Amino acid sequence: MHFTRTTVLSSLALIASAQDLTSVIAENENLTRFSELISQYADVTSPFAALNRISVIAPSNAAFDKLQFSALGPAFANNDTDIIRSVIEYHIINGTLQTSTLTSSPTFLSTYLTNDTYSNVTGGSAIGAVKQAGNVIVLLSGLGSRSTLTNPDIPFEGGTIQIVDTLCVPPEGFLNTSRVFNLTAAAGAVAKAELSDSIENARDVTIFAPNNDAFTRIGSGLAGMSVEEVRNIIGYHVVNGTVNYSSMLQNNTQLQSLSGRPLTIYKGGNALYVNNAQLLQQDILLSNGVLHVIENVLNYNATSATPNPQIPSQPPIIPGTSVFDIPFTSDLPSTETTAPEEGITTDASGATITDEALASSTSSFSTSRSTGFAVPTGRSDSGVMAAVVGGAALLAAAL
Ligand SMILES: *[C@@H]1O[C@H](CO)[C@@H](O)[C@H](O)[C@H]1NC(C)=O
Ligand SMILES: *[C@@H]1O[C@H](CO)[C@@H](O)[C@H](O)[C@H]1NC(C)=O
Ligand SMILES: *[C@@H]1O[C@H](CO)[C@@H](O)[C@H](O)[C@H]1NC(C)=O
Ligand SMILES: *[C@@H]1O[C@H](CO)[C@@H](O)[C@H](O)[C@H]1NC(C)=O
Ligand SMILES: *[C@@H]1O[C@H](CO)[C@@H](O)[C@H](O)[C@H]1NC(C)=O
Ligand SMILES: *[C@@H]1O[C@H](CO)[C@@H](O)[C@H](O)[C@H]1NC(C)=O
Ligand SMILES: *[C@@H]1O[C@H](CO)[C@@H](O)[C@H](O)[C@H]1NC(C)=O
Ligand SMILES: *[C@@H]1O[C@H](CO)[C@@H](O)[C@H](O)[C@H]1NC(C)=O
Ligand SMILES: *[C@@H]1O[C@H](CO)[C@@H](O)[C@H](O)[C@H]1NC(C)=O
Ligand SMILES: *[C@@H]1O[C@H](CO)[C@@H](O)[C@H](O)[C@H]1NC(C)=O
Ligand SMILES: *[C@@H]1O[C@H](CO)[C@@H](O)[C@H](O)[C@H]1NC(C)=O
Repeated sequence: MHFTRTTVLSSLALIASAQDLTSVIAENENLTRFSELISQYADVTSPFAALNRISVIAPSNAAFDKLQFSALGPAFANNDTDIIRSVIEYHIINGTLQTSTLTSSPTFLSTYLTNDTYSNVTGGSAIGAVKQAGNVIVLLSGLGSRSTLTNPDIPFEGGTIQIVDTLCVPPEGFLNTSRVFNLTAAAGAVAKAELSDSIENARDVTIFAPNNDAFTRIGSGLAGMSVEEVRNIIGYHVVNGTVNYSSMLQNNTQLQSLSGRPLTIYKGGNALYVNNAQLLQQDILLSNGVLHVIENVLNYNATSATPNPQIPSQPPIIPGTSVFDIPFTSDLPSTETTAPEEGITTDASGATITDEALASSTSSFSTSRSTGFAVPTGRSDSGVMAAVVGGAALLAAAL
């Protein structure tokens, strides 16, 4: 008896795709550094070799060559094994990624980085995957990092291996991430509102962070605001308990802010808005959720503000005139208020901001509770209405 050509080919294909993870990596000339890393951390990686329906994001040798320029450089240089473990876990996707399923709108994939020292997101820290012009696949990770896929969809018995040119960076908290995106005023306002601790330690958040221009344009109106007033404003920019990537935001979606008042999403043309503020940068990953940069400071007294998509930028909604100095920068606990060099975020001043901010805002949740920052749980129409009314009453009482 003899096999037809197609039978022989498909059995060869089966043999090829049935190879185990460790062998496929070990036999790839571009993965010798990654292969060494996973054998050094066999206690972390061997359980993954036995899993099905996963994808391994495998950094190439070229990716390791430029590691010193990455936010992960210091951790590898100092052999910080705890962080390196978290980096490895972040490179394992729960589910098999086939790049043919990706589109120009980012897909967010769950990883095996679930250790709550590094991740406070249901389902583990996420990696974004997006198809760009020329069918180039880019992975989006923490601190605005981007990795390009150089060799996609390499099969092994439990899923696929995706080779990237740059290591993916596990997402960090709002304070560290805000530094990379020059969100100095927003971070200062969070510190002034004494909400650093509760925002940093919350699970599953969506944050709408106005850029510095948004604060500077209304600076005179912000000057002299009390802690409570700033807390009311900041609380209107944070959604607690939901991680809403831009792809989940539909026209007229309502979200319940930490302040108790609703936010409304609008779509107009290709733009997305929250109330009357356009989302300028979407889907910045945080260790505890997602951040979208917006063009205006939102006003909890103007919950029905809508955008005019015909004009390129929406007018401010909090009264005030432009100031020269960026508001709230003096509220940052560190004197370092300038944006860091691109990708360098692990300097000592970053640690200072975080630690002091956390120390200066102990039990801010109970404080905020007494000033009306109740988080409604109702999700039905009537529940939301009751929550809005209740939140408004509590806010009014606090003012
Ligand atoms: C290794 O990388 C180079 C450059 O990207 C590529 O040309 C080559 O095909 C890769 N080798 C394998 C086995 O994927
Ligand atoms: C890193 O630290 C681990 C555990 O302390 C040790 O086993 C390993 O040899 C170190 N690696 C390097 C490159 O120094
Ligand atoms: C989580 O991370 C911390 C700090 O790196 C580590 O001490 C701990 O063992 C980890 N927990 C698990 C379950 O891996
Ligand atoms: C991986 O995904 C499956 C199915 O979605 C889920 O049941 C499982 O808990 C996930 N594992 C981890 C470690 O998140
Ligand atoms: C967010 O919601 C959770 C669960 O309802 C709650 O425990 C936590 O205190 C809330 N965080 C803030 C900052 O309000
Ligand atoms: C994760 O979120 C929960 C709920 O808000 C909080 O109690 C816990 O302290 C957070 N963990 C970390 C490591 O921030
Ligand atoms: C940060 O924002 C301020 C005010 O908008 C601007 O002057 C400065 O150039 C920005 N820095 C960077 C690195 O983008
Ligand atoms: C926002 O995310 C939550 C889960 O975190 C989800 O239940 C909710 O449906 C999402 N909202 C939208 C508008 O997709
Ligand atoms: C979004 O909803 C508003 C009404 O709230 C409507 O005027 C607008 O046309 C809708 N936009 C899109 C893109 O459907
Ligand atoms: C919101 O309205 C209250 C009550 O009228 C007022 O005291 C407060 O200043 C207003 N806040 C803003 C940001 O407009
Ligand atoms: C913020 O950065 C500092 C310095 O690199 C680091 O120690 C800290 O763990 C980071 N915080 C978060 C929440 O990632």
